[in-house]
Amino acid sequence: MASKIDIELTTGQKMPALGFGTWQASEEEITKAMEEALEAGYRHIDCAPVYLNEAAIGKVLKKWMDAGKVTREELFIVTKLPPTGHRSGGAEKYLKKSLKDLQLDYVDIYLVHTPFAFEEAGDDLHPMDEEGNFRMDKGSDHLKVWANMEAQVAAGRAKAIGLSNFNIKQIKRILDNTKIPVANLQIELHAYFQQNELVNFCKSKGIAVTAYSPLGSRGFVELMGKTEVIPAIMDNSTILNISKKHKKTPAQVALRFTIQRGIAAIPKSTNGDRIRKNIDIFDFELDECDMEALTALDQSPNGRVCDFSFMKGANTHPEFPF
Ligand SMILES: NC(=O)c1ccc[n+]([C@@H]2O[C@H](COP(=O)([O-])OP(=O)(O)OC[C@H]3O[C@@H](n4cnc5c(N)ncnc54)[C@H](OP(=O)(O)O)[C@@H]3O)[C@@H](O)[C@H]2O)c1
Repeated sequence: MASKIDIELTTGQKMPALGFGTWQASEEEITKAMEEALEAGYRHIDCAPVYLNEAAIGKVLKKWMDAGKVTREELFIVTKLPPTGHRSGGAEKYLKKSLKDLQLDYVDIYLVHTPFAFEEAGDDLHPMDEEGNFRMDKGSDHLKVWANMEAQVAAGRAKAIGLSNFNIKQIKRILDNTKIPVANLQIELHAYFQQNELVNFCKSKGIAVTAYSPLGSRGFVELMGKTEVIPAIMDNSTILNISKKHKKTPAQVALRFTIQRGIAAIPKSTNGDRIRKNIDIFDFELDECDMEALTALDQSPNGRVCDFSFMKGANTHPEFPF
């Protein structure tokens, strides 16, 4: 495989531009998929305790490291502070739990998963009332949460810290009051939702951007009943034409487009063939004409898939970002 691309963080760390998403995969599915992903060459793994599969991921990581097939230094592991952790001591508690499950001493990046917060309810990461509304913690403060995140770097549990799903105003407030800079922002980003304003802002502040749902998260579109509004990216005629021209799959074109914008992408798949193909994007280059045609596919803001409407009540939180 042609040489891979890294994205350099302000900390000096090198984040592999193509990573592996782990959401919506059961423990059994992720165990098999992780083996296939590591075999295919993925080293950047995107995790979160709310995906309820970190222990299964940890078992595969340990197996590979014990067998000498990969070293910790070669891996780039990202996980996230759940919305129930926006309180004093929350980052320490939840990061220690993630590290235990992942069987690691540190993560490469620890992200605040969402700007909105949930009440803490024992071990339940999705606390809801009887009507299915998420129980919001409306008193949380991002500056206090960030100070707790910074303490994780000082304690050696995270090499870098960042944010996910935050808007420009929310990021600015943290940047203006921070000791350790925001190294990474993880946001929904794909051909139909290119996030130019947010990406340009991050570039101007030295914040590396990671694209989640980089293939448009079709399963999620269906779940949210948005199939009428958002057509499938991989069926788009522009993408199909470019894929024929380069003899690559539509998904490979969509991922290459994001990476050529200097943005990391973390596609998820539990299908071995798709796992291997999604990372096989380093042997071709989109030309200026392809890039222009793909840029014209942006449908922002209508291209957004993840508006958190599946988390009933999230949009009532004062820090709801969209
Ligand atoms: N920070 C956040 O709030 C947040 C939110 C959402 C996601 N994420 C992260 O981003 C990762 C990726 O996002 P995502 O899972 O929402 O969406 P995605 O990667 O855009 O799409 C995943 C879907 O596409 C399918 N797929 C994968 N490769 C394909 C290919 N080559 N051709 C056709 N279909 C393909 C997968 O099915 P198969 O498995 O059957 O291949 C799955 O249904 C997540 O897993 C998670 O790690 C973070």
